[in-house]
Amino acid sequence: MRTEGDTWDIVSSVGATALGVAAARALESEQPDALIRDDFAARFVTASGHEGMTRWLHEDSDRVESKLASTMIGLRSRFFDEHFRAAAADGVRQAVILAAGLDARAYRLDWPAGTTVFELDQPKVLEFKARVLDEHDAVPAARRHAIAIDLREDWPAALLDSGFDPGAPTAWTAEGLLPYLPGAAQEALFERVERLSAPGSRLALDSMSDLRDLDRMAEFQAEQLRGTPMAEIDLRELFYTDDRSAPETWFGARGWTAESLTVRELSARYGRALPEIPEVYETMFLGARFVAVAKPVTAPSA
Ligand SMILES: C[S@@+](CC[C@H](N)C(=O)[O-])C[C@H]1O[C@@H](n2cnc3c(N)ncnc32)[C@H](O)[C@@H]1O
Repeated sequence: MRTEGDTWDIVSSVGATALGVAAARALESEQPDALIRDDFAARFVTASGHEGMTRWLHEDSDRVESKLASTMIGLRSRFFDEHFRAAAADGVRQAVILAAGLDARAYRLDWPAGTTVFELDQPKVLEFKARVLDEHDAVPAARRHAIAIDLREDWPAALLDSGFDPGAPTAWTAEGLLPYLPGAAQEALFERVERLSAPGSRLALDSMSDLRDLDRMAEFQAEQLRGTPMAEIDLRELFYTDDRSAPETWFGARGWTAESLTVRELSARYGRALPEIPEVYETMFLGARFVAVAKPVTAPSA
């Protein structure tokens, strides 16, 4: 169960979810019609020494759960890739990846010259990431600052200390983060993002509107997916299910524009049919929302 101020490394608690997502990105990257290409994902999984995740990469990718994971994470990753691409095309040169985990976008996206990417996550997650990237002599495609901090703490001070410019528009992401924060911490995170966002900033995130089937899903995973890494991650122990504001409502009330898409809409947008979704996962997967909010550029006063 989660506790205030709990910590983890890449193979434990919430850290292992970052590894699971990387494994799914590795599977997706091998598909002939891959939605994203992440050559670092498999390297992270192998370096973690996590037996189940590593085995998963070498198993038959036609398995139902592999198809489901690679398509869902592929669609999600593509949505966030496009968010950064669109921001870059609009002249935004500052990016903040909240809960970066093993996100390798600083290395794999084509950032315009002069872009700075800040990545925030817990210390042991970022230590592992740095070790693997160093072992592969990886060179970021933008100026990159990794900030080891808990997102329930005063992370804006650390971000500002690292050279973040609150006067410049920012492209933020919080991918796969919100259910791991208590409602009050989510609220504080939104307030901090809003306060640090110059006009023209935008934030992309995913949110779960309905976690009713979490118990059923966890039982299904433990029984039916035995022997796969999905059986080892019990989301009931990691997610907070307390009430909280929908991001589009929270930011909308503060004058930001909001767009919210479902998995089906992402599937249509990126031309990838959804695999059959076992009924037990329907509420979670089909209820997920991919949200982009933007702080309008205010017209200069006359
Ligand atoms: C499901 S993973 C997503 C990682 C990455 N965004 C991606 O999509 O590949 C969740 C991430 O959130 C991070 N995280 C969750 N709660 C956090 C907190 N309170 N402080 C810092 N990082 C946190 C975890 O360490 C983990 O890397």
